Amino acid sequence: MAERVAIILAAGVSKRMNTQMAKVLHEVCGRPMLAYVLDACREIGVSKIYVVVGFSAEQVKGRFDPHRFASNSAEPQTEAVAEDIVWVQQDEQLGTAHAVLCCKEYLKDFDGEMLVLCGDGPLIQVETLKTLIEKHESGQSAATLATAILEDPSGYGRIIRDAYGNMQGIVEDSDCTPGQLAIKEINPSYYLFNSKVLFEALENVKPDNVKKEYYLTDVLSGIIGTGHKVLAITAVQPEEAVGINSRAQLSAASKIMQRRIQRELMEHGVTIVDPANTWIDARAQIGQDTVIEPFTYIHGEVKIGHDCRIGPFAYLRHGTVLKNDVVLGVYTEVKNSTLADGVRARHHSYIGDATVGENVNIGAGSITANFDGQNISRTNIGNNCYIGSGTVLIAPLELQDGSHINAGTVVSQKSVNELGGKAERDVSK
Ligand code: UD1
Ligand code: MG
Repeated sequence: MAERVAIILAAGVSKRMNTQMAKVLHEVCGRPMLAYVLDACREIGVSKIYVVVGFSAEQVKGRFDPHRFASNSAEPQTEAVAEDIVWVQQDEQLGTAHAVLCCKEYLKDFDGEMLVLCGDGPLIQVETLKTLIEKHESGQSAATLATAILEDPSGYGRIIRDAYGNMQGIVEDSDCTPGQLAIKEINPSYYLFNSKVLFEALENVKPDNVKKEYYLTDVLSGIIGTGHKVLAITAVQPEEAVGINSRAQLSAASKIMQRRIQRELMEHGVTIVDPANTWIDARAQIGQDTVIEPFTYIHGEVKIGHDCRIGPFAYLRHGTVLKNDVVLGVYTEVKNSTLADGVRARHHSYIGDATVGENVNIGAGSITANFDGQNISRTNIGNNCYIGSGTVLIAPLELQDGSHINAGTVVSQKSVNELGGKAERDVSK
């Protein structure tokens, strides 16, 4: 079996996104779009991933470093460390062919298969890559690309075939003749190349096009011209072909990804009452027979056990861990907190930076006051506590097992200490 590496193009400036941020860091369901492309490469099995960066390169690299925490946020950005990644610098963004050529100094002696993907295609499916590899190998092809048929092909490179269906090349949207614009078969930028053939062909690419860029798509006609076999297989589902060049495409891709996330959760036994009005982060984990009611928003790394009931209108943020049989009702927000089995917070609560013991009941409108203007502190609530409605728990605070707080109480550590450490019914008088 040939050794395989991947190249991901992620250096572009992205005028159409109208952003100061690197395009590949824009998030799709909570994760930067590049993360999904990296995952797909890892799942398919590559020995190394060469990621070409340029515009905001440091920002991109930083996001994939687990030691970095966003300075203005309590939420750590936790994409896994990139030990299999080689960052390749493209100082000037002269086009996708030039971007691949920047990898040559690392790969000039490499002799094997080279998967080339774009960092702005997060909807990529591993099954498609498997088909791509299989057809490439069984067809003994020098270059293989997977194509899609789109009802609206505008913006994408069009696949040109001869009368026998053989692929002849790709023409970019801005260079198409009116006749070519009508072609519905497009290039989603999923390619597999023989490394030697690719680098040779790249040397001959010229910026002879409207944008005056070095187009990777031009290598295909070049490779065909030198007598090598090129295959174009129609293997990409329309929704998987979405490349993100604009904010509208970002939101369209997020919707598709959201459907995938929810479909997978439902297959694992989670009830989602109204999928269209529920938003669940790609990193969330949810256990069997948990019910997610409408208008629930789950953002960040959130773990929910089995048999929980969440929402309607619940907001679960990064670092939330709910054990089993937890009930969170309307307008309940939880952040960076662990709630043990059987916790109930049915109405209008904020639980931030807290550890809540088993079977604790948190009454309507109760909150943890976790921020004093300078520091964030934790609240630890023991097992079987009763927190009456409208309670303010001022952190840092430690409530022992069985504490009972009457409705309308403001509880500080001082008031608890005065009662010998255990808050009783009396504390609230
Ligand atoms: C590209 C393809 C087009 C295809 C579409 C699929 C080319 C010439 N065109 O067009 O056929 O239908 O993707 O989504 O390849 N990049 C660099 N360095 C550069 C230029 C771009 O790294 O100098 C990166 C970008 O960051 C991006 C990717 O390459 O991740 C593709 O570039 P983009 O400008 O989005 O190309 P498209 O116009 O979408
Ligand atoms: Mg693109």
